Amino acid sequence: MAKQAVAAYQKCINPDCGAEFDCGQALFKCPNCGDLLDVLYNWDKIEVPDKLSDFRKRWARRDNRLDFSGVWRFRELLNFCKDKHKVTIGEGQTILQRNDAIAAYVDVKPACLYLQYEGLNPSGSFKDNGMSAAFSHAMVVGAKSCACASTGNTSASMSLYAHHCGLKSTVFIGSGLIAFGKLSQSMDYGAQTIQILGDFDDCMRQVQHVCSKLGMYLLNSLNPFRLEGQKTIMYRIMEQLGWEVPDWIVVPGGNLGNSSAFGKAFLELKELGLIERIPRIAIINATGAATLSDLVNNKRLLWNQGNVEQGVIDEYYADLTARGFSPHTCASAIEISRPVNLKKCLRTIEICRGVVRAVTDEEICDAKAIVGKYGLGCEPASAASIAGLKHLRAEGVIGADERIACVLTGHPLKDPNVTVDYHKQGQGQFSNQPAEVANDFDEIIKLVNRING
Ligand code: F0G
Repeated sequence: MAKQAVAAYQKCINPDCGAEFDCGQALFKCPNCGDLLDVLYNWDKIEVPDKLSDFRKRWARRDNRLDFSGVWRFRELLNFCKDKHKVTIGEGQTILQRNDAIAAYVDVKPACLYLQYEGLNPSGSFKDNGMSAAFSHAMVVGAKSCACASTGNTSASMSLYAHHCGLKSTVFIGSGLIAFGKLSQSMDYGAQTIQILGDFDDCMRQVQHVCSKLGMYLLNSLNPFRLEGQKTIMYRIMEQLGWEVPDWIVVPGGNLGNSSAFGKAFLELKELGLIERIPRIAIINATGAATLSDLVNNKRLLWNQGNVEQGVIDEYYADLTARGFSPHTCASAIEISRPVNLKKCLRTIEICRGVVRAVTDEEICDAKAIVGKYGLGCEPASAASIAGLKHLRAEGVIGADERIACVLTGHPLKDPNVTVDYHKQGQGQFSNQPAEVANDFDEIIKLVNRING
């Protein structure tokens, strides 16, 4: 497991192009055709362990920074740079919690539902998995400054890694669309915040131009190295299931980086002979930001071996523009209508026989309250996975005795406003309203007795 071969390259996902580039370049989109890039490996040059359980031996060497990292513990599976370039701040110390109470809520049998708490990462979301990998690539190319557009978590995570690596960082956010917990992090971590009078999709478009023009390193999930880090979320789920493959992965879908990374992770493991079967995936949109669901379920858009019907996407986006549509959901993290990883996500849907559903804000908030009450809590976007699972159970798409892992992408304190409003204003069936009482001892005793009684 010690070989230091760098056997990776970048390749355009468009089969008509297929251009290849070395990893010493920061490109983010194919310079020939503008399509997305993958990081691919010459596996015969990499000493990949014979079985996944070999990775567990690294638990005994947790004083080694790379063995401690929940990303780099799996380094042979994302072998694109030398050890000296690898960046870690201790990401990936996450847990997979079996949760029978939430299983009952979604109508799944006991011991079938598992929650992957990515909120336990250093910046409080799954993004840290991707940032440790992408910043390692930034070290390879000698980047001095970086930027991202964000609904909040990417910016929090990027800012944290940027100050760790000594890079200047700039964050582009839409007007009024970012949860305070997240905004406070990027300011605290020293990033320059720039608010654009527009939504996330506007920011995403602008940041790409800014990075190209000024030679800044782009840290959105367009960056294929970020997705390499996010593959490890799947490795850790299997690790905690004794290296068994679950039947279903359920994940919220925003810019579609996670879902894209997960499909790639499983395809590679299957090709390497490290797993025998690939799990199915369910990707969950919010109804107010349901581009993927619309394109897959209504327009029947398919990966089709990379020959995605671009015309269907163009027509869909042209209609959004004509209507002046801006996405809207209380799950602000996934308030995105032009997901940059759409095509890679379609590939995942093919690899993992995926399904897509959209859930309402009401369903998201109820599910979030249940994760708070019976689990460790999560932010609204994360709870879309639980709400989506409930749908898929009611439809019978997912069986009651199938083994399901829901990815809870962000920490509950990321967005306290949604939580407080839900409870205080009695917005949902699980609202837990605070009570008011006069500053009078007898009245207080009466109230507390009533509550306990
Ligand atoms: N959950 C949370 C908590 C997120 O922050 C995001 C994305 C998603 C889910 C969606 O993941 O993009 O991989 O489909 N947040 C980005 C950001 C867009 O800027 O923080 P995805």
